[in-house]
Amino acid sequence: MFLKTIGLFMVISFSAILATKVIFQTGNCTFKRDVFSNFSMEIINNKIKIDIYLVGVLKEGLKGHLGFEVRQSKSPSYQSVFQHDINYCALLKGSQTSIYSRWFNSMLKSGNFARSCPIYPGYYYIKDWELKDDLVPTFLFFGDYRIAASFYYGKYSKRIKLLVECLIEALLA
Ligand SMILES: *[C@@H]1O[C@H](CO)[C@@H](O)[C@H](O)[C@H]1NC(C)=O
Ligand SMILES: *[C@@H]1O[C@H](CO)[C@@H](O)[C@H](O)[C@H]1NC(C)=O
Repeated sequence: MFLKTIGLFMVISFSAILATKVIFQTGNCTFKRDVFSNFSMEIINNKIKIDIYLVGVLKEGLKGHLGFEVRQSKSPSYQSVFQHDINYCALLKGSQTSIYSRWFNSMLKSGNFARSCPIYPGYYYIKDWELKDDLVPTFLFFGDYRIAASFYYGKYSKRIKLLVECLIEALLA
């Protein structure tokens, strides 16, 4: 996977420079109405605000998917560079340590996200969350990115019905 990532960058970018800063631009979420009555994201001054009205129960087995895609300047199409599936309930238990658990811990401090599974109906939010420079993934290069973040059960594929999917446009600089 990593070799593939590096290979792609050697093709599309002449000087591949690791990013040290993430600038969030826009974001939106689509969600299943039987699980959420609303799931909204707003980006203001590089800070993320998420409001979640959960109406269903999110149970053990809940997974998260993160996909990073990049595009050449002005090109309308993105190419996938990195994807990762996360056992979300295990992440909450702290039994995984990764860049994602570090992001998640910083999100917990900016809101009221549930700290264990199952996650019961209610209002959850994060407010003014930003990706501090020390949380920028060390495997991504400069560029114009689209980040897809979703929750689902089972095995991830393009065809499964996601519980929610948020698309975020971000500049890595
Ligand atoms: C959501 O964001 C994506 C990525 O920025 C964009 O392509 C899409 O048009 C947006 N959808 C809506 C409904 O705004
Ligand atoms: C969803 O929540 C956002 C932010 O709280 C709000 O602006 C929006 O109007 C809500 N949408 C619906 C359909 O309730």
